[in-house]
Amino acid sequence: MINYASKTALITGASSGIGAEFAREFAARGANLVMIARDRQQLDSMAAELHAAHGVTVTPIEWDLSLSGAGTHLVAEMAQRGIRVDVLVNSAGFGTHGTLANTDSAILSQEMNVNMNAVAETTRGFLAPMLEANSGVIINIASLAAFAPRPHHAMYSATKAFVLSLTQAVWGEVRGTGVRITAVCPGPTNTNFFNVSGTPIPGGKAQPASGVVTAALTAIEHEKPRTVPAPAVMKIAMKVMGLLPVTATLKASK
Ligand SMILES: NC(=O)c1ccc[n+]([C@@H]2O[C@H](COP(=O)([O-])OP(=O)(O)OC[C@H]3O[C@@H](n4cnc5c(N)ncnc54)[C@H](OP(=O)(O)O)[C@@H]3O)[C@@H](O)[C@H]2O)c1
Repeated sequence: MINYASKTALITGASSGIGAEFAREFAARGANLVMIARDRQQLDSMAAELHAAHGVTVTPIEWDLSLSGAGTHLVAEMAQRGIRVDVLVNSAGFGTHGTLANTDSAILSQEMNVNMNAVAETTRGFLAPMLEANSGVIINIASLAAFAPRPHHAMYSATKAFVLSLTQAVWGEVRGTGVRITAVCPGPTNTNFFNVSGTPIPGGKAQPASGVVTAALTAIEHEKPRTVPAPAVMKIAMKVMGLLPVTATLKASK
């Protein structure tokens, strides 16, 4: 079993939901944390709580990943601070909905920056030193939505397909080294995600974020390229939808 004690885990989207759950789990396992998000107050309060509970060093950093190049700048910031990242979790993300033509282009750019560009830039940036050290863990949060193009969620599902594809390809590149990487494709999870997106929870039921974290860490242990923590029926439905003509996905995607 991987020992995370005294390692440094950088978690994006650590102020809420799945990212916050990763922060709790890694702190409980003795890892020091770098917590990335925009909500400074929430980061500070979690940092104080996790330091008090587990005695680990927690560095909260207010960082807006929707800005162009934010992932690359974050890698540089860590180098400048002399922080070596042993574990990277890319959890920051959000989803737009509605037709592409009617969605604000600035928001779509932000969605691409947070969900894709920051993931690619940090994965690339932190991977090189991990490979040099022959040790490291990268966990990229995609979504069940990665498996099917979804009308009315076009940009969101496309960004998640990108994360899944990128991560699985890099898994192939690092195989046989001491670096492990996995893509996590959760089904509906009980976080702030649906409040932010303003959409109902698909199927009306959401799993706890803790189950997503457990699935991710198990996938890393077993060196799996991806894990899909979701109800079996949804997993099958999404995979089938990916093989069907787009018209068949319309009904489920409004
Ligand atoms: N919940 C689900 O059902 C579900 C299912 C599949 C995949 N996912 C994926 O899981 C990941 C985590 O989402 P969640 O469910 O935990 O939702 P959440 O509770 O809304 O958390 C989203 C996190 O992303 C951060 N974030 C958003 N925009 C950011 C920005 N511009 N810069 C920096 N951080 C930003 C937020 O922090 P600030 O607002 O403080 O910046 C927050 O910490 C996302 O990638 C999402 O796509 C979620």
